[in-house]
Amino acid sequence: MNNFHSFLNNLPKAELHMHLEGSLEPELLFKLAQRNQIKLPFDSVEALRAAYEFGNLQDFLDIYYQGAGVLQTEQDFYDLTWAYLERCKAQNVLHVEPFFDPQTHTDRGIAFDTVIKGIDRALQDAKTQLGISSRLIMCFLRHLPEAAAFETLEQSLPYQDKITAVGLDSSEKGFPPELFERVFAKAREAGFLTVAHAGEEGPAEYIWQALDLLKVQRIDHGVRCVEDPALVEHLIKIQMPLTVCPLSNTKLCVFKDMREHNILALLERGVKVTINSDDPAYFGGYMTENFVAVADALNMTKAQAIKLAENSFTASFLSEAEKAEWVKRLQLLH
Ligand code: ADE
Ligand code: ZN
Repeated sequence: MNNFHSFLNNLPKAELHMHLEGSLEPELLFKLAQRNQIKLPFDSVEALRAAYEFGNLQDFLDIYYQGAGVLQTEQDFYDLTWAYLERCKAQNVLHVEPFFDPQTHTDRGIAFDTVIKGIDRALQDAKTQLGISSRLIMCFLRHLPEAAAFETLEQSLPYQDKITAVGLDSSEKGFPPELFERVFAKAREAGFLTVAHAGEEGPAEYIWQALDLLKVQRIDHGVRCVEDPALVEHLIKIQMPLTVCPLSNTKLCVFKDMREHNILALLERGVKVTINSDDPAYFGGYMTENFVAVADALNMTKAQAIKLAENSFTASFLSEAEKAEWVKRLQLLH
């Protein structure tokens, strides 16, 4: 690490786009498979890691859902979440708003209660033991029917004190946000905030739908907004956050090379972009690795790094007073 890389690592940051199931490192995956007596189609950690070459989002999702099959007990979900939070601590990520996909587990016969209790206990321990605050986001899988999302929303209601927002993830193309307009309306009525993946592989039109129909507080990814100049103007005007995931985008071939990534161009135009890791165990790194990859490929300045960190807090679901505290603290770094 050079001096600027160390600066990026030490910069206080928030992470707003990370799937907990995507932080399952091969080592933990093998350990949990052994603990739960599950036979894996890979002989070693190295063989598994070598399979992490993806041509598109679906290639990745196929392996990601398979990997999540080793998660069975409350302790497994605790261990998964805790391992992520320890990485956060080492990279000075001090506030997190992770996603989890309940349907990936309930469809295998794992109780919603088991999943949420393991995750929540780790998040509570992180607050007291690591000084990391959090808000949890429950995602609906968009390749599954609307009825399944409604059922998941129903299952989540007894745990509303532990879940701040609902989101929308999984295969994007062919599954537009409009399919989930009604379930998002019901989630908002129940008091949940909303976010949605849009404009990762899908077109700019999906971003409009997420804004207009799902009434989201943030767009996850959103990098294809540039295909619609009126949309970019609108995102700037309403200061809609985009939770961008640089290493994910190059791993899944959304951009061929990091030097082609549009994140800093969007930042300079006044779009409220943030840097995030998406599925760090699969895409080559956590928050610092994402900051470093962008810095090296696109000559990020110190002022841009501070602005990205500031955006990560102001785009979060923290209170206005908490956001102001973080902004003040970050301004001292100029
Ligand atoms: N689930 C996990 N990672 C995802 C991504 N990058 N896009 C959509 N769904 C996901
Ligand atoms: Zn994602």
